[in-house]
Amino acid sequence: MKHQAARFTRIFSFLGLPAIQSALDPAGQQAKQIDNLLILFFYVTLVVYLIVLLFLSIAIFRGRYRKPQDFPAPDLTPNPAQERKMQRVVVGAVGLTVVILFALLVKDSFTERSIYSLPDPKPVDIQITGHQWWWEVKYLIGGPSGIVTTANEIHVPVGKAVRFQLRSTDVIHSFWAPNFHGKKDLIPGDPTTVWFKADKTGMFRGQCAEYCGHQHAHMRFVIIAESKDHFEQWLNDQRKSSIQPVTQSQKHGQQVFLSSPCVVCHAIQGTNARATLGPDLTHLASRQMIAAGTIPNTRGHLGGWILDPQGIKPGVLMPQNVLSPQDLNDLLDYLQSLK
Ligand code: CUA
Repeated sequence: MKHQAARFTRIFSFLGLPAIQSALDPAGQQAKQIDNLLILFFYVTLVVYLIVLLFLSIAIFRGRYRKPQDFPAPDLTPNPAQERKMQRVVVGAVGLTVVILFALLVKDSFTERSIYSLPDPKPVDIQITGHQWWWEVKYLIGGPSGIVTTANEIHVPVGKAVRFQLRSTDVIHSFWAPNFHGKKDLIPGDPTTVWFKADKTGMFRGQCAEYCGHQHAHMRFVIIAESKDHFEQWLNDQRKSSIQPVTQSQKHGQQVFLSSPCVVCHAIQGTNARATLGPDLTHLASRQMIAAGTIPNTRGHLGGWILDPQGIKPGVLMPQNVLSPQDLNDLLDYLQSLK
């Protein structure tokens, strides 16, 4: 099974598709079981398909090379022995089909039961809230003062069960990180949970898997699976208040932020910006991507995003901002200092 999955992964990379977002390259037990199920289904249906093709070909080629005189006038009186034989073949084929389908059904329900059972009584709790069109990520560990809020980038420790508490505040979204688990819908007013355990370190991609409006395709997230020490270090850094501006331009940039419409939607811990409509920006500069995985978190992209988010992601709730070149430059200096 293992080398077959690896072969699929190679095909994927040959086609230019990243295995960092692939159900065929599992990085956790749940995805592994889903992968095994998929490979089982694939080979069983392949064998059935080949058998059907074989009989079809025999029928075609037998008829093809017969001459008209090979076909005697049809004998319409039923031959009881022949009839019984045909009946046995049909009943046998139907019975075999039912047995195969039933076996696949049983395997499927065992897999489902097993991937939704939680063996770890003390998992890492992460609350995921789906918004149009980004992911709010809240770490519910270490008591009320230890809560960390971030966006679109989910760090998890390797070898430790993580329980995602999924909810939505607007429309139905679906949380899907194929290297770890199957899809799970986020339904407004009906919180649910899903869990997995990362078995290897690495960066993996996931995305919304339920159509949720104009920018559904640009509602991605990243999962960074890292060692327990790295994870603890990252979490402690995220718990800190935002870095205070040092240079003149950073100080001015902070003033630009706090006196602009930015504060209507965003929070930066350690300042007066406390809104929760948009992503928390306290440690914005520590994230790799912005706009829910749409563009890399570089100075140029960030500037373009602030000035014209509608041009990058039409329909997004963030409005356009008119800033003087000096204000924009200083704002970027400040935002890029928020490690
Ligand atoms: Cu959220 Cu599609």
